[in-house]
Amino acid sequence: MRSANSAADRGRLASWLWVLLDRHPDEQERLRVELVAATGGRPPTVDDVANLPRLKAVIQETLRLYPPVWMFDRRALGPDDLGGTRVRAGDLVIFVPYAIHRLPQLWSEPEAFRPERFEPGREDQKNKFAYLPFGAGPRICLGASFAMIESQIIAGTLLARFRVRLAGPEPVTPAPQVTLRTSRPVLLRLEPAALA
Ligand code: HEM
Repeated sequence: MRSANSAADRGRLASWLWVLLDRHPDEQERLRVELVAATGGRPPTVDDVANLPRLKAVIQETLRLYPPVWMFDRRALGPDDLGGTRVRAGDLVIFVPYAIHRLPQLWSEPEAFRPERFEPGREDQKNKFAYLPFGAGPRICLGASFAMIESQIIAGTLLARFRVRLAGPEPVTPAPQVTLRTSRPVLLRLEPAALA
């Protein structure tokens, strides 16, 4: 991608995923049940991801609340009108997915962690420009599908075997730089999970 390297983006996504799953241990259990049903508890492969819809929705919801590319920009080639705001040729237009993803006009209970909003046909998904973790239009992220698949495999591999908790007492908050970093390193405590 253009504004940061993609390994860093994946790192950002992984950090925020574990922060959210630490806050929602019930969701973690739900994902483990889905994984056991799909794979019998072995680490998922690319052939399994279609059978992990809840894990995909959790990753999509993580990218909504904490988009690694929290802002990006475009230089206007010509004059335009953006919802009543006049744009002149050469203007720099800055898009902030972090803010767009939390607009109450576009998202119900925008601050809440609700993976089910990404179920097919949900109201929240009616505006295709409401959700921009991978950008939009001709310059949309080329690695979007790859990033989703590898995130499901990496997260599923850990979740199949471990209950994952954050180590350290300090809260983790956003620290926006080129990508949306965490205020402190996200260190994890892994406890073996029973696969009943
Ligand atoms: C969670 C992981 C990722 C996120 C959040 C992400 C996000 C983005 C965003 C927002 C853009 C558009 C930037 C803009 O319009 O100015 C972009 C572009 C791009 N991304 Fe990613 N990306 C991720 C992973 C990847 C991976 C894994 C690859 C390659 C395998 C990749 C390759 C690219 C490329 C080549 C572009 C430029 C496309 C163009 O300008 O035509 N990205 N990415």
